Order: sequence, then structure tokens, then C-alpha cells
Amino acid sequence: MRPRGLVVAIDGPSGAGKSTVGRTLAERLGYTFIDTGAMYRAVAWQALVRDLALDDATALGRLAQKARIELRGSLPRVFVDGAEVTDRLRSREVSQAASRVSAHPTVRRALVARQRELGRDGGVVMDGRDIGSVVFPDAEVKFYVDASPRQRAERRQRELAAAGTASDVDVVEAEIRARDEADSSRADSPLTRLPEALYIDTTALTPEAVVESMAAAVASCGAR
Ligand code: DC
Repeated sequence: MRPRGLVVAIDGPSGAGKSTVGRTLAERLGYTFIDTGAMYRAVAWQALVRDLALDDATALGRLAQKARIELRGSLPRVFVDGAEVTDRLRSREVSQAASRVSAHPTVRRALVARQRELGRDGGVVMDGRDIGSVVFPDAEVKFYVDASPRQRAERRQRELAAAGTASDVDVVEAEIRARDEADSSRADSPLTRLPEALYIDTTALTPEAVVESMAAAVASCGAR
């Protein structure tokens, strides 16, 4: 056992509800929730603001190395170099840029090193695409959270609407499928469903039911 508890890895495609359930599970366990997608989004946002080419692996890697990305609180709120960017990270433009930026090994090396540092002592629920496969292959508990593309698009559309952006669900679904394809087929750390990960299809489940089954799985691994 690590000093602060277990490492709980949650991987899966975008919009499957990983962060909603991850956050709640972390609260319930008294653990820290680490949304690694927010870290890739923060780098993508900075790249867009600085007008960097999204295929410039060297410049993006340098950016990922240098940017001081902080996740604060249980939401979490995201800060880059001391300035809050939480509200800037969920746009469609940043989502697509994050997917491209995250394909560069230079960027991944920088962020994976930080994620390992954040989770080293345990007591974390970490969500992403490669947590159980690359960041913490020795995580005590691994989940793969999935949902149908339509359901994920509908959730995403509601999220965008809540942030004041109207969108067409067919277009959002097409974007989600394109991102799934890119995230699953890239050479470095693609999204993969590990045989040891507990598979949860959230399509027909409430977040509460998902958290319930996750908490039961964690308890059976001996979480405090
Ligand atoms: O989980 P999310 O949708 O916020 O992630 C944004 C992008 O970042 C997603 O397209 C894939 C990438 N990502 C990744 O490659 N590895 C992670 N551990 C988390 C996210």
C-alpha cells in the first residue's frame, strides 16, 4: 500500500462520464481527483493562444515542460502559470486541439512525469486514456468507462449548452467519433481497453449507480 492509499485508474473515451464519476468516487474515498485530460487541454489552450502549430512536436513539448499546470479543488479548477483557465478548456476548438497535442510523445513525456509525481503516494483517482496502461500500470484498481457514441454526444451537447454554446448533436457525435479514432489509433499510448480493467458501460446507468459499483470494487481491493 502506498502512504496515502490506492491509485484508482479510470480510462475510457471522451464523454463517457469519467470525470463525473471519478470526482464523486474520489470525494467518497477522501482521495484527490486528477483529471489528466484537463492537463492536455491546458497545453492545447496555451498552444492556441500562442498560435503554435499543432504539429510542432518540439515547440509543444517545450510548452508542456514549462507550463505550470495546477489542478485545484475537487472540480478541479485549472490554473496555468497562476491564471485560472477552467472555463476556457471545454470548447470544441480546445477539445480537438487537445486530441492533436496529446498525440506528440514530447508532450506526453512531460505530462506523464507530472501525473506520476501527483499519484506517487497514492490516494488518487486519476482519469484519462493511458492511466492504467502507461502512467500507473501498477494501479491497484483499473476501470474502463464507456458509453454509446450517441449518449456521449448528447451529454457533451448538454455540457456545451450549459456553457452557452448551441450545437447540433449529429455534429458533436461525428466529432466525438473522430476524436475516439485519433485517440485510439495514435502510436504513443493509445486508448486501450486492458483485460484487467473492470469494464463499465454507463449508457443506461445513473452516475450514482456507476459510483456505487466502483466504490464496491475499490473496497474489495482494500481501500481505507
Ligand atoms: O478526457 P478529455 O476529453 O478531457 O481529454 C482531452 C484530450 O486529451 C483527449 O482527446 C485525449 C487526450 N488525453 C490523453 O491523450 N491522455 C490522457 N491521459 C488524457 C487525455
